[in-house]
Parts: sequence; C-alpha cells; structure tokens
Amino acid sequence: MGDETRRHDVTLEWPDADRERRTIRIGEDETVLEAAERADIALPFGCRTGACGTCTGRLLSSNGNGDADEGTPDVADAFAYRRPPRALKERHRDTGYVLLCIAAPRTDCRVAVGSSVHAELVENPWK
Ligand code: FES
Repeated sequence: MGDETRRHDVTLEWPDADRERRTIRIGEDETVLEAAERADIALPFGCRTGACGTCTGRLLSSNGNGDADEGTPDVADAFAYRRPPRALKERHRDTGYVLLCIAAPRTDCRVAVGSSVHAELVENPWK
C-alpha cells in the first residue's frame, strides 16, 4: 500500500443503474479492479491482463476537469497502466476508455463502469 498522499478518490458510476455511485480510495500501486474487490464492489472482468476488454470503464472527469463541455479528459494523466492495454484501440484510449484491471489512478477521478461501458465499444462503430 502507498502512503496516504499517494492515494486517490475514484468515484465509480454505473450508467445502466441510474448512475448509482460509489467512491473508493485507491493507492497508486493498486488497480481500480483490485480496489473495487477490496471494497466488495462487483465490476465485470475477464482476463485481468488487459487483453479482453471486459473491464473497460470510461473516464468522465479527472481532478475536477473534463466534464462534458470541456472535452474528453486525458486517460494518460489520470491512470498509469501496469502493462500495455492491448484490448483497447488507440481511438478508444483517445476517447477516455480505460482498462480497470491494469489501471492504477494518478489523480482523483470519476469513471463510468459496468457492462454497458464495454458494450459501447462493441455496439457503436464510430467509437
Ligand atoms: S479483464 Fe480483460 S482487459 Fe481487463
């Protein structure tokens, strides 16, 4: 576990559950998926290695920046990946999608989670 100054508040929001929210405190050496499991929050996952995309979330805002009218917040500023996010195409990474099984936070942020987020990638050919 990192010390308290290297922990970040990450708010998880479920778009398919009436925007239900939970905020968890996550260390920089911990992935969002690991922290959610520690907090008894069920997030979808498959491979846990960045290969399948099942755990995909979408960054909504980071460090207070990036909500709708300010454009897409930068995933690279908000998270560090433990290994390459192979399941995401570059355009997905550019539009805020993040693999929660291998991503550890670097800022406070809000992330849309749940199976509907992964479905956005599959169902919308423009994303
Ligand atoms: S669980 Fe497979 S990419 Fe995250």
